Amino acid sequence: MDGAALLKAEKKLPPHLAKVLVYDLLFGKGLKCGGRWKVLVLKHRARLQAELARLKVRRKVSCNEDLLVPTEGVIQALQVPRYVRVNTLKTCKDDVVDYFKRQGYSYLGRAARMEELSSLSGKQFLLDPHLPELLVFPPQTDFHENRLYIAGHIILQDKASCLPAFLLSPPSGSHVIDACAAPGNKTSHVAAILKNKGQIFAFDLDPNRLATMSTMLVRAGASCCELANQDFLTVDPSDPKYSNVTYILLDPSCSGSGMVNRLPAEESAPSSERLQALARFQRKALSHALRFPALQRLAYSTCSVQQEENEDVVWDVLQEHGTAFRLVNVLPSWPHRGLATFPGAECCLRACPAATLTNGFFVAVLERQQECTRQDSSSSLPAEAEVDGGAERSQDGEGRGPRATRKKRRKKSPCVK
Ligand SMILES: C[S@@+](CC[C@H](N)C(=O)[O-])C[C@H]1O[C@@H](n2cnc3c(N)ncnc32)[C@H](O)[C@@H]1O
Repeated sequence: MDGAALLKAEKKLPPHLAKVLVYDLLFGKGLKCGGRWKVLVLKHRARLQAELARLKVRRKVSCNEDLLVPTEGVIQALQVPRYVRVNTLKTCKDDVVDYFKRQGYSYLGRAARMEELSSLSGKQFLLDPHLPELLVFPPQTDFHENRLYIAGHIILQDKASCLPAFLLSPPSGSHVIDACAAPGNKTSHVAAILKNKGQIFAFDLDPNRLATMSTMLVRAGASCCELANQDFLTVDPSDPKYSNVTYILLDPSCSGSGMVNRLPAEESAPSSERLQALARFQRKALSHALRFPALQRLAYSTCSVQQEENEDVVWDVLQEHGTAFRLVNVLPSWPHRGLATFPGAECCLRACPAATLTNGFFVAVLERQQECTRQDSSSSLPAEAEVDGGAERSQDGEGRGPRATRKKRRKKSPCVK
């Protein structure tokens, strides 16, 4: 635009609008708008095209994409595989695997180690070593036009974002709250785990995001959800409607600093004021969630890598609630753990492109302590952490979520000290 002196010649053209129009003209589907702006920009078409050609000669590149200077986020995004969650409300893993095989993909079976996920290429795909219904394809594989995606048989969801519902693992028939639910990927995952039996109370403040969520849930066949456009902090824990809520998923608004495909302008770390404001809300929301009287288990997650929004929130709220809740040591073989900022923080999971081949993420699972444990306990953390994450240790890694293992261990040792 500078080379073609567009803004000098057209003083009334707002710079932001100019960028959009020039983008559409040179890289997009052409100028679709009408009116005077189109006429005005089209007057400069030849000069703009000549400038673009000159730029490519100067940079010694032949295609437009090569003009992009990769930012750190883009480089990381290129390393993260494409994860595909099989929506078990509509289909099953074997049918989806067969479908992709018929499409010319080659299935390499269940990965034994995380490293195998980074060596995928071409049309190869694997079953994830941790999550039983998650298929893994090479980075940048695009399934947005795929028939199975359009029909809601597969959900395009990062592996880290599948962890909260998987680790919450409510039994079929449970009453669950999804406190900050839209656009609903985790809600539909919980619905699949419940097999649509039970009830999910899903809240979100943003009506537009809720509308998107509603469409998405229909597409996913999730029928056990009641959506409410309500501030979760105003939901009354003593309302009889929620008296059977035993599981809560809390994925509150966060800085999003773990997302690898953020815009370059968002890549710098969030300001300390913003972090403080977010952490205040996250603490309030977590503390509020723990007030639901029948609550047994809660998964807290963010797509942030900031300690202030993660370990600090969990530790502050655990302390505030005395010995009532404790952290569960989930997925022991997961390589990236909570930062050691308090005793037991390693029970939490962290995720990042380099260590786990996912977006940056944080998950903590809290469980109500049994009376006998509480009496013996001097802190809200067990001296010997419970081992959880049965899917990893099961023979085939399939069909057994974390809850299966939890039940088994409880029989042996009801009070963890
Ligand atoms: C990180 S997003 C949730 C993503 C969602 N769990 C998913 O997996 O698709 C956070 C959501 O919290 C909502 N939110 C923020 N403050 C809220 C509040 N006080 N009560 C309910 N929802 C809230 C935002 O509108 C946003 O949709």
